[in-house]
Amino acid sequence: MQRASAITTLVLIASVAFTYAADLSPAVNWSSDDDALPEVLPKKMSGKTDDEIQKALFQAYENQLKVISEYSGHVLDPEFPYGQFKDEMPVTNARTSNSQSDITFYNNNIRGFVGYNKNSINIKWVPNQVVTEIGWKEWNIRGRYTFMNSSFFDQGKYLIKLQDIKYLAGTTLSENTEAYPSTVPKSSISYKNIISSFITSGSLEILKNSDFPNIKHFVEDIVFQQVADRIVKDTHNNITVAIRQAVKPYIIFKNDTDPNFPGVTGKLIVGGVGYSITNTVISGLSNIEQKLKKIAVKMATNTAMADLRMTVHKLDGKFDFKLEESKPVVGKGTFAITRIDVNVSFNMLKPAECKAETAVNQPVVKYGTKISADSEKTLTNAFVENVKSQLNTIVCKTLSQMIKSVK
Ligand SMILES: *[C@@H]1O[C@H](CO)[C@@H](O)[C@H](O)[C@H]1NC(C)=O
Ligand SMILES: *[C@@H]1O[C@H](CO)[C@@H](O)[C@H](O)[C@H]1NC(C)=O
Ligand SMILES: *[C@@H]1O[C@H](CO)[C@@H](O)[C@H](O)[C@H]1NC(C)=O
Ligand SMILES: *[C@@H]1O[C@H](CO)[C@@H](O)[C@H](O)[C@H]1NC(C)=O
Ligand SMILES: *[C@@H]1O[C@H](CO)[C@@H](O)[C@H](O)[C@H]1NC(C)=O
Repeated sequence: MQRASAITTLVLIASVAFTYAADLSPAVNWSSDDDALPEVLPKKMSGKTDDEIQKALFQAYENQLKVISEYSGHVLDPEFPYGQFKDEMPVTNARTSNSQSDITFYNNNIRGFVGYNKNSINIKWVPNQVVTEIGWKEWNIRGRYTFMNSSFFDQGKYLIKLQDIKYLAGTTLSENTEAYPSTVPKSSISYKNIISSFITSGSLEILKNSDFPNIKHFVEDIVFQQVADRIVKDTHNNITVAIRQAVKPYIIFKNDTDPNFPGVTGKLIVGGVGYSITNTVISGLSNIEQKLKKIAVKMATNTAMADLRMTVHKLDGKFDFKLEESKPVVGKGTFAITRIDVNVSFNMLKPAECKAETAVNQPVVKYGTKISADSEKTLTNAFVENVKSQLNTIVCKTLSQMIKSVK
């Protein structure tokens, strides 16, 4: 999958900001690792037994469904989608010791987070990981220090420059909201070069050497841990946005309400009068629960059948109807459906092989215009049958499109 380049992204921000400040989502620089999708597993595991592939695929797909479910209803979406870096952060005072001397660093401040030269978020499905990589040309750590050993005491200002810094960390893909870490290892940060200068009163030769253990310890253990924790926090919202974008193609109902549910036409049994149902609006589609029941793998026939169960609870909505009597009757219907059950079985290796079966439970349809009981019965039946056949089509279409996106 290709994503907007940095330039497109900037242009997008600039041009969109005027009109739709709310819809900036495509601007996060993310990508999805298609080689890490569940349906790629069988190919990757060639040589393994059907049973082994089956187990791995079940776990991978179940996890993907978990991420899909987290999207449903948008209840876990962040209120403010973007995370922004603050350019600087304070670092706690730190006293560092080696066997010969102590250095205390205080009033420490590190700067340079805003000017990153790379910022990428990569979604890796099967390992259930989101890998975030950010690069910077330079950070500056400034503050004051005291140096002391048995014969010498010195204090002054210091400046430590770090160059070609990289932050590379993985966080879980599923439960991105509830199980997002507050800390990542300090080793998430690495750098190519360090230059330290200590403005001393005397000649403090050892501090010209950036390898001096107290400086290394301060930078690599103390500063990096605090900075890593800060970056993992700052990147959270962008990672959530990236996951929401990556999972979109797999969402069967993108919104809770579908204002364009397809209509249906037919003829009444009695008298053969034509009818139509149009402008159907259905709400409650986010009350969907999806579970993987079974995966059956048979590589010899290129088969990885996934059996899913989907349930949508508490739907309601309305439609317009028309009876083509000699004097046409038009009116509105409202409906409530306790539950819709869908069983679907599809081949993850051949997306055209898909079969869905839908049951509409306890539909109650009310008509705002007086029509005969027979007409009501026919219209209600037509409405329910239409919901069933449309859902069968929508479900299989979404599943096969999701598989097709892999080549
Ligand atoms: C989040 O993404 C926006 C849009 O690309 C970007 O401006 C911002 O710097 C990113 N923030 C972080 C913390 O990566
Ligand atoms: C966007 O991400 C890609 C990798 O996914 C990376 O190569 C590129 O440098 C990133 N662009 C920016 C502006 O961070
Ligand atoms: C204390 O530090 C100073 C400055 O680096 C050094 O010249 C001196 O030899 C050190 N004294 C001892 C006892 O290590
Ligand atoms: C979902 O809702 C959004 C905003 O309310 C709208 O822009 C979008 O077209 C809707 N998508 C579908 C598939 O109805
Ligand atoms: C779905 O499968 C279950 C268990 O096999 C069955 O009880 C139920 O009737 C099926 N529902 C539909 C809509 O086919």
